[in-house]
Amino acid sequence: MLAVVVHDVPRELSADVVLDRCAALAAISDEPERLTRLFGGEAMRRAHEQVGAWMREAGLGVRTDAAANLIGRREGPAPGAPTLVLGSHLDTVADAGAYDGSLGVLVALAAVERCGPLPYAVEVVAFSDEEGVRFGTAYLGSRAFAGTFPAELLDLADAFGVTMAEALRTCGGDPDALAGVARAGEPLLGYVEVHIEQGPVLEARDAPLGVVSAIAGATRAEARFVGRAGHAGTVPMDARRDALTGAAEWALAVEATGRATPGLVATVGALQVEPGAPNVVAGAAAATLDVRHAEDAVREHAVAALRRSAEAIAAARGLDLVWTPRLQTPAVRVDGRLTALLGESITAAGYPLVSLPSGAGHDAVALADLTGVAMLFVRCAGGVSHHPDESVERADVAAAIDVLCALLRRLAT
Ligand code: GLV
Ligand code: MN
Ligand code: MN
Repeated sequence: MLAVVVHDVPRELSADVVLDRCAALAAISDEPERLTRLFGGEAMRRAHEQVGAWMREAGLGVRTDAAANLIGRREGPAPGAPTLVLGSHLDTVADAGAYDGSLGVLVALAAVERCGPLPYAVEVVAFSDEEGVRFGTAYLGSRAFAGTFPAELLDLADAFGVTMAEALRTCGGDPDALAGVARAGEPLLGYVEVHIEQGPVLEARDAPLGVVSAIAGATRAEARFVGRAGHAGTVPMDARRDALTGAAEWALAVEATGRATPGLVATVGALQVEPGAPNVVAGAAAATLDVRHAEDAVREHAVAALRRSAEAIAAARGLDLVWTPRLQTPAVRVDGRLTALLGESITAAGYPLVSLPSGAGHDAVALADLTGVAMLFVRCAGGVSHHPDESVERADVAAAIDVLCALLRRLAT
């Protein structure tokens, strides 16, 4: 392995800094016992404050845009120099691991700091809402950045009735100024995102890093089954309109569709049951749907079939069905030149070159509507992610910083 020393910072030391910072961020949570950092919450505010301070230490100019994206920028040598955008997100799922999103932001910051002046401007961006846990739709920050955020989503409400517009205001954003966040029309060199793989391929191939070949398309929707609440002790079984059992039957249909379709993953990840008491037949049950496939036509066909199956289950059980689309992102092609340069940087550093598709979504999906995107994956233990057991090796983090730094230099020539 290379013993690269850049700017007198030993590579292992800068990997340690990144890992220490990931650990520090993992302690900033909305919940006391586990890491949950949702868009617009107090923990996100504190995480952005902390990362903003690290960005300033690295000599970057720091601002938060109207979509609550945290942006650290180092200017280029002359006005009008193009900008390379690096980044990922700092929001998390519930009961998250320490590296999904945070690692990408912090590796980018480490590489920019290490690389010193470049003949172009560089931004490190912590996008504000990648996971979309709070409002069921993802990529608020990155879609605003790309100029593709649909303003009507601002009216979506979270489980407590707080709208996305209100949540955005509480974290320093401005829903009325989102159009001004869009970076279209600026000279951009592209967007590069470092991320843990969140799958087992790199580990199986004994490779610390990989380049992403494409990102699977995704659909999110909500199927809300509406029946009639009633007394669990007195409403006879054959007189019930139980919304929860309808949603449960449909969740099994979703799983069966995922299993039966090669390459398809289909998930009901959350159920919201009303009124939600042991002695009350459920009056309503809202089930989330997340469907992904590398080919858009396969995904769209599966979603249409699942909607029909929800309608059929509801009809057979005397329930009403309210179907609400939440997100639709087509499969994303990566930029050939940026991806090739990343690959060259990997092989030049002495690592095997593994190219793999991403089943997970990333801010790069949204940025692809703005500029060319490329992604560098970092091996993670057992492929585990969206789980507190996420873990990465220090040597792999050091390799990611080296390779990103090498890419920054290749783009300079
Ligand atoms: C993001 O983590 C996603 O793929 O849902
Ligand atoms: Mn995630
Ligand atoms: Mn992520």
